[in-house]
Amino acid sequence: MKPQIHDIASPINASRLELKTAVASRGIIETYTPYLPVSAATPIITLNEGNTPLISLPYVSALVGRGIKVFIKYDGLNPTGSFKDRGMTMAISKAKEDGAKAVICASTGNTSASAAAYATRAGLKAFVIIPEAKVAMGKLAQALLYGAEVIGIEGNFDEALSIVRQLGERYPVTIVNSVNPYRLQGQKSAAFEIVDAMGEAPDYIFIPVGNGGNITAYWMGFCEYREEEKCTKLPKMMGFQAAGSAPLVINQPVLNPETIATAIRIGRPANWQKATRVRDASGGEFNSVTDEEILNAYRILAGKEGIFCEPASAASVAGLIKHADKISDDAVVVCVLTGNGLKDSDAAITYSGNEFKKGIKPSYDAVAHVMGF
Ligand code: F0G
Repeated sequence: MKPQIHDIASPINASRLELKTAVASRGIIETYTPYLPVSAATPIITLNEGNTPLISLPYVSALVGRGIKVFIKYDGLNPTGSFKDRGMTMAISKAKEDGAKAVICASTGNTSASAAAYATRAGLKAFVIIPEAKVAMGKLAQALLYGAEVIGIEGNFDEALSIVRQLGERYPVTIVNSVNPYRLQGQKSAAFEIVDAMGEAPDYIFIPVGNGGNITAYWMGFCEYREEEKCTKLPKMMGFQAAGSAPLVINQPVLNPETIATAIRIGRPANWQKATRVRDASGGEFNSVTDEEILNAYRILAGKEGIFCEPASAASVAGLIKHADKISDDAVVVCVLTGNGLKDSDAAITYSGNEFKKGIKPSYDAVAHVMGF
């Protein structure tokens, strides 16, 4: 018998629906409220960020051997395709609470996409300043479509951030780069999720480092959870920069940073001191990986594990493959994959190492022949 309208709208079904909606609509602020600087007065601007999967990497685990268990925290599955959404829900919610009308950021692309989306959601104006020649097309597309005022400079990220800092001091625009403390507060939720999923902290976190915000946020998250006795240990924080753009590794600013991993093409990290303190407190290290090593990990992740991330994210796995000898037997390792592969489809097509066989006649014979039959 066909269900009648009144069946569908019965009180039981209605409450199930409400329940489903309530569960589905939780972003990181609602999930981790007691750990975040929010109050009943904070308007929660969310796109249901967070709750991203922790996925095992059987191929990479076998590659590094010695019983080491490798997982990724796949943060490219956030609403705008990067980990920035965890911080942006906080930064934009607090900006809204404080009565801001506009926000601004400098960005290598992901922050601009995230800021644009959350600002739109909050009814705020977003200004994003980007190095015009070095932003992956997917990220630019997002910022434009979300309706931000997109300003390209003929310079790099460091120059853009310096301009943004000055504008933030002089004009009524709230800076939503990771110098905004609410950003790191939100981003620490990724560490909470890892412990919630594993029941313990991993032994190591391998993570790409640009401005040093995310590594700092993860550490804060693990430390807070250990204080609450949600885990009994803390991971060593292993940060990776691209070789042509590795100020934290060489311990001096890089004037003209260069790398295929445009997201982390940063020569003067905004959270330099904080990131260094995290490395030391955790007993971790900063190291660099070459563009070639990054692209190799990028291809392994997609071609062997079925995981598509952007090149900067693959720096974490490249770092693990390169420095596996530094970690102990049977260790549990989480590599952070910060951004989605679709952000930079140009890089994927250029560096896939695969061939697009095109120009084939539209016939059964021609296609079967190309297939090798
Ligand atoms: N991975 C990706 C994909 C990023 O976009 C960034 C930073 C990082 C890693 C590094 O994180 O700066 O906290 O150390 N992207 C910024 C942006 C700079 O503008 O989108 P960090």
